[in-house]
Amino acid sequence: METPTKLRNIITINEFIRRQEMEADQATGELSGLLMDLVLASKIVNREVNKAGLVNILGSESTANASGETQMKLDVFANEQFIAALENGGHCLAVASEELDHLLTFDRARQRGAHYIVAMDPLDGSSNIDVNVSIGTIFSVFRVEPGKRVIMEDFFQPGRRMVAAGYILYGSSTMLVFTTGQGVNGFTLDPSIGEYCLSHADICIPEVGALYSVNEGNVPEMPPGVVAYLQECKTRHNPAGKVHSARYIGSLVADFHRNLLKGGIYLYPPTQKDPNGKLRLLYECAPLAFVCEQAGGMASDGERSVMDIVPEGLHQRCPLYIGSPRMVQRLLACLHG
Ligand code: AHG
Repeated sequence: METPTKLRNIITINEFIRRQEMEADQATGELSGLLMDLVLASKIVNREVNKAGLVNILGSESTANASGETQMKLDVFANEQFIAALENGGHCLAVASEELDHLLTFDRARQRGAHYIVAMDPLDGSSNIDVNVSIGTIFSVFRVEPGKRVIMEDFFQPGRRMVAAGYILYGSSTMLVFTTGQGVNGFTLDPSIGEYCLSHADICIPEVGALYSVNEGNVPEMPPGVVAYLQECKTRHNPAGKVHSARYIGSLVADFHRNLLKGGIYLYPPTQKDPNGKLRLLYECAPLAFVCEQAGGMASDGERSVMDIVPEGLHQRCPLYIGSPRMVQRLLACLHG
């Protein structure tokens, strides 16, 4: 008789989150519940992303998002799914989203005495959707007083106060990578069982790598220090001691994820057109900075750690230099040298 396929030591994300919760003192299960709500929404979004080319969901929605960009239909769909999951879960008091001008508050969570708020970019890299290139979701979770009537200023917390952050990468496979401040772990979605399984335990970014990710079309508008650093990347006179490879997808999650695993730096500097860069602090730069620092990397806006910046607006932009620590340090030396 054939022996059945042995169930290897698979750890699902549910199991992992439950174990982490049991290890944490005074855990109430609220954060675990909220993370599981995000997991659920990501599976639904993943399903739609995977069939985006097959159904009539591509194309631009006529409404513009909070920053005046044309929204794609999948952006709207992802936004709705994450909001619905967070509202129904009852663990989240309020959501700020790239796709919304104002924050959304949830009465049921307030009545339950919930104490978390979420800032998210439900579908980042939207210009890549209709060309079948990797896109992602980014989220950050902050704590407020239980049952608080949340106002915009409750989101104006520095990244250091984040309790959890992560991203979902809808790529050649779908991965969820997150941190609650106890290291970084990555889970790959196994579509055959519909579960995220631990595939990248305790991720550590290489100290230095030989990949740089930047939109070099903007070089004429970049600060001279950044241009000097990019020049160094093309020589052997850099911390890696070798000529770097340029890798730029134009999807922050995908570019960041590759550099996290292989070692590298992602740069979105200020330009004349966008003096604060293009990326948003609350739901792009800060959550990735938390993940990066937890993996041993660095994230700076050129002056200070991204984790120390106190937001002054929900959609505030912020320059971003993020990745392997020796590369970010060298970039900062070029900027200030
Ligand atoms: P969008 O969602 O409008 O496609 O923007 C994507 C973001 C980010 O994911 C990416 O790294 C960056 O913008 C790319 O900007 P450039 O096109 O200016 O390089």
